[in-house]
Amino acid sequence: MIFRLSDFHFPDDAARLYPDTPERPWVLEVGFGDGRFWPHHAASLPEAPNYLGVELSGVSLLKAERRLRAAGLTNAVLTKLPATVLVREVVPQGALDAIIVNFPDPWPKAGHTEHRLLRAPFFRLAASRLKSGGAVLLTTDHDEYFEFARAEAEASGVMAVERTDAPPAALETKYARKWRDLGLSAHHARFTPTAHPHVPHGAVTRSPENEENPTVPHAVLTLPQTFDPQDFAKHTARGGQTRETAPEGEGAGWTVVLLDLYRGLGREGWVFLAHVVEGELTQEVLIGVTGREDGTHLVRLARFGGPIITPGVKAAVGTVTGWLEGQGAVVRHRGY
Ligand SMILES: C[S@@+](CC[C@H](N)C(=O)[O-])C[C@H]1O[C@@H](n2cnc3c(N)ncnc32)[C@H](O)[C@@H]1O
Repeated sequence: MIFRLSDFHFPDDAARLYPDTPERPWVLEVGFGDGRFWPHHAASLPEAPNYLGVELSGVSLLKAERRLRAAGLTNAVLTKLPATVLVREVVPQGALDAIIVNFPDPWPKAGHTEHRLLRAPFFRLAASRLKSGGAVLLTTDHDEYFEFARAEAEASGVMAVERTDAPPAALETKYARKWRDLGLSAHHARFTPTAHPHVPHGAVTRSPENEENPTVPHAVLTLPQTFDPQDFAKHTARGGQTRETAPEGEGAGWTVVLLDLYRGLGREGWVFLAHVVEGELTQEVLIGVTGREDGTHLVRLARFGGPIITPGVKAAVGTVTGWLEGQGAVVRHRGY
């Protein structure tokens, strides 16, 4: 089943995601590509563990979902997200039996290693989300990335590393076959936590489920008579902790870009389109400005698109409010 970020709880739990098989082991695969690993691997086990798959490519997501459905693997949840966002926000502490990474993008160019997944912060995050006895399993053809990952695991201070044979299914993925056809062999390592550090979930909360939900970021203000939406121009705001100053595993600060302002068709009012970037997580959200009976206006995050309420999304409502203040609005109440 395909989940959007807004379909998850933060954190979620296996009993909710896999109601028919809550007691089974729970395995995460990062970057599953066209999804060949899991059907092969599950077929080698007496019963299929609960599967969580995360991938950045939407085309791969659809291919993999078809493949898993055709294999009858119903206890599987697939999502299109950056892996660290899913692991940090959705996976509870100490919940996973394994994190499987087959042929991760190697980012081979000098200066690009910061894009690699298997760096020390990820190993610490993984150690916090794995059960005791759980492990990160890496298979790669890339000699340099393999050594890099081993050094990063050691630098994390919470992982022991052991070279082992790859699970046979990891040698049947699309990339495994591609590299084998070129005569390259694969390395495999098992990273086992030696400690389970506490890496907190971020400040993500549920999406606004109903219009009256008081946790939906909002503000009430009085617009000046002279307010003219034609004065709007693209506007950028930044805040929160920067990547350098953020404690391990915590928010990387936010950037809000107010891209456009539209007149609402149904009710009197306007809608702002905002682009919100927080580390690897990006969201496009709509923020409505609607008239109220007492003559004031309500600025509020819209439900459209299933936004996730993060510090950056709250800041987007604050940025709209701030821009309107700059146009002469007087704020009566802030709820963000
Ligand atoms: C080289 S491909 C390998 C695909 C598959 N595992 C295989 O062996 O055929 C790497 C995959 O990882 C995905 N990916 C890269 N970075 C990711 C991230 N941060 N989170 C989730 N998926 C990611 C890419 O979209 C790509 O599909």
